[in-house]
Amino acid sequence: MATAITVRGLKKNYKTYKREEGLGATIKALFKREFSIKQALKGIEFEVEKGEILGFIGPNGAGKSTAIKILCGILFPTEGKVESFGYEPWTQRIKYAMDFGVVFGQKSQLEWDLPPNDTYHLIKVLYNVPDATFNKRLKYMIKLLDVEHIYKTPTRDLSLGERMKCEVIAALLHNPKLVLLDEPTIGMDVVAKKKLHGFIKKINEEHGTTFIITTHDMGDIEKLCKRVIIINTGEIVYNGLLSDLTKEYIKKKFIEVKFEEKTHVNLPKRACLISRTPYVTKFEIPIKKKGMDDFIVELIKEYPVEDIIISDPPIEEIIRDIYENDKC
Ligand SMILES: Nc1ncnc2c1ncn2[C@@H]1O[C@H](COP(=O)(O)OP(=O)(O)OP(=O)(O)O)[C@@H](O)[C@H]1O
Ligand SMILES: [Mg+2]
Repeated sequence: MATAITVRGLKKNYKTYKREEGLGATIKALFKREFSIKQALKGIEFEVEKGEILGFIGPNGAGKSTAIKILCGILFPTEGKVESFGYEPWTQRIKYAMDFGVVFGQKSQLEWDLPPNDTYHLIKVLYNVPDATFNKRLKYMIKLLDVEHIYKTPTRDLSLGERMKCEVIAALLHNPKLVLLDEPTIGMDVVAKKKLHGFIKKINEEHGTTFIITTHDMGDIEKLCKRVIIINTGEIVYNGLLSDLTKEYIKKKFIEVKFEEKTHVNLPKRACLISRTPYVTKFEIPIKKKGMDDFIVELIKEYPVEDIIISDPPIEEIIRDIYENDKC
């Protein structure tokens, strides 16, 4: 696969001016304003392949939106280099705009008092999309995202989830090579999320569109991304396959044992009981220490076991461990 985006030594410092209360402080501020510097990105480096769906995750304030804003050219960095589809985003923004689409879950790009359909027609003119292509694409996306019944309703009257689906269409109407999605599933219910996941996958497969998606919802990542970048306080703490992430960081297993009859099982000391009913016992057990297999064999031998389900901890928990360790 060819490289679509290269990011080198990317730093972004925000300067925020302190505002004291009172007239005296306001007058003083006219001559000397006090400020503080926030290092939102501390020299991050990564690449994105053409046709990849990359997950960008991290806790609040990690620097995800800052990176997305730099990648789409609306913010320039303090230091560092970005090459995205041959462009430096913040200096070649007009030409580059033809190649990317962006959705900010926290901010609407649709005209508030107009239906999304009207904004779509504005986009058509702005991006010079031929009539036939526009009509075909709009019809296709409206159907795929199931918004036939709402895209002619004023944006202000739409629910957050409905609006988000319409926002995604707006970002993709000009068939960009790159789509940046900053928390696109915010406010969506399970059904809408599933629709959006299917939509992204289909567009990615059919058009080879590259996606970068930031989210707090691990379900989005599990459904869409092979590779993830985890960012914490402006630094990359993990960059690799999602499957390796789970392999490397899974330190315990969840075990659920169902019994054929009422059973009180004695757990080893290292196990931690989660719940117990007469027929089902759930517990977690560390996998690094020896003896888990022996314990399972013993369990089956000594108790009337009907079924055993062994599962990994939820991905959120694994990621929390990484934030805490700050490992690379
Ligand atoms: N315009 C700004 N001026 C000053 N500081 C800012 C500005 N924008 C962001 N920051 C700060 O930079 C840091 C990174 O913010 P950013 O919005 O990139 O985080 P994020 O990872 O997107 O977080 P979230 O998950 O909450 O959306 C935060 O500490 C934030 O307060
Ligand atoms: Mg953000």
